[in-house]
Amino acid sequence: MGESVLTRPFARVDGVLSCEGVPLSTIAAAAGTPSYVYSATAVRDQYARLAAVLAPVAFRIHYSLKANSCGALLRLLQSLGAGADVVSGGELYRAQRAGFASSDIIFGGVGKTEREIAEGIESRVLLLNVESDAELRLVDRLARERDVVAPVALRVNPEITVETPHKYIRTGEKGHKFGIPYDEVREVAGLARSLPNIVLRGLDMHIGSQLSRLDAYRDGIDRVLQLLGELRADGARDLRYLDIGGGLAVTYDAEEPTDLERFAEIVVPAVRSTGLQLIVEPGRFMVGNAGVLISRVLYRKRSGGKDLVVVDAGMTDLLRPSHYNAYHRIESVDAVAGRARVDVVGPVCESGDFLALDRELEELSPGDLIVIHSAGAYGYVMASNYNTRGKPAEVLVDGDRFAVVTERESYEQLVSQEVVEPEWRAD
Ligand code: LLP
Repeated sequence: MGESVLTRPFARVDGVLSCEGVPLSTIAAAAGTPSYVYSATAVRDQYARLAAVLAPVAFRIHYSLKANSCGALLRLLQSLGAGADVVSGGELYRAQRAGFASSDIIFGGVGKTEREIAEGIESRVLLLNVESDAELRLVDRLARERDVVAPVALRVNPEITVETPHKYIRTGEKGHKFGIPYDEVREVAGLARSLPNIVLRGLDMHIGSQLSRLDAYRDGIDRVLQLLGELRADGARDLRYLDIGGGLAVTYDAEEPTDLERFAEIVVPAVRSTGLQLIVEPGRFMVGNAGVLISRVLYRKRSGGKDLVVVDAGMTDLLRPSHYNAYHRIESVDAVAGRARVDVVGPVCESGDFLALDRELEELSPGDLIVIHSAGAYGYVMASNYNTRGKPAEVLVDGDRFAVVTERESYEQLVSQEVVEPEWRAD
């Protein structure tokens, strides 16, 4: 299945770049810049495409909130039938606030605190994905104190070779902090069976994000199925779920779009052979290309023979270029004549504050509006307040309508938690 028209929701209409039926210039005038803009239709379309290829097996799509936890998008995904994958008490709170039933929430994460585990247990989430024997014992104690049995999946580190554009987004190789080392899973599963307030409901893996090779899923699933056989031989009887994590890639530059049919060819027969229900935890796939960041050009300047375009969005709004050297396509919202090779840099006081380096773009001038593409995933959620910059606004578009769904952060909000004249304590 190729990319449909709906997965390319940012197109030129009469020369002006629009999101669905709304010109981005209209949104910039209403919401200001920098702002994130999301297409509801693109999210619906991605959800439907993934659900269609998984349909031959019993499956659950648990959207990974870490990619984008904007409440309006969460509500949309929930209405489509998605569950949620959360990794903190804060994300659990957001998921519940957006209307996800607890029984549709999975709680993962390598460093859950006692408080967070207690919140997961008390909420009666579908699964707690556990990453060590110590965490398992803690879950058991906290469940016992509440007189309940906690449903648990063990996150396995399949210890395979993973290819991703940046090493920071690989998680399933030997020595990574994530998951239970492969050779120890059998023992931890034995422990799970012996603990009275634990029921072992699933096995889980997540090998990396923006996976370049779909075969990595085959490698990872093969390893997990091997373990599954061993655990069943050891007496595991309560297993219901096989969670293969997230990681489906999206197109940022010239990458081939993920071949969903091939993904299904790998996953569906393997899961069918287990009799378990499939869980996937996609984040980027659902929202990555459903969102852009719009920004205004402030200045042009030259330095050391380089042409610089200074814009009002920076690393505090979109960290990915600076942190992962990630490529995000940039273009002018209005049709502009001429081209120039430039660095697009932000206003933050760091030399690493850039959105693109040495990039040929349209001839941009102060006041021009630009769009930074593929910013729907790991954009707003990784924004910071460095330089006391408020976080940008978020805007949702659906057909010909748009709405500001997160207001731009104000100066007052930025300091609202501070106590300037504290009440000193000495004990
Ligand atoms: N499940 C688990 C356990 C994860 O750790 C992640 C992502 C996902 C699911 C969702 O993965 P996705 O489908 O989005 O690839 N900030 C980085 C990406 C970090 C991904 C962390 N884990 C970036 O901007 O590329």
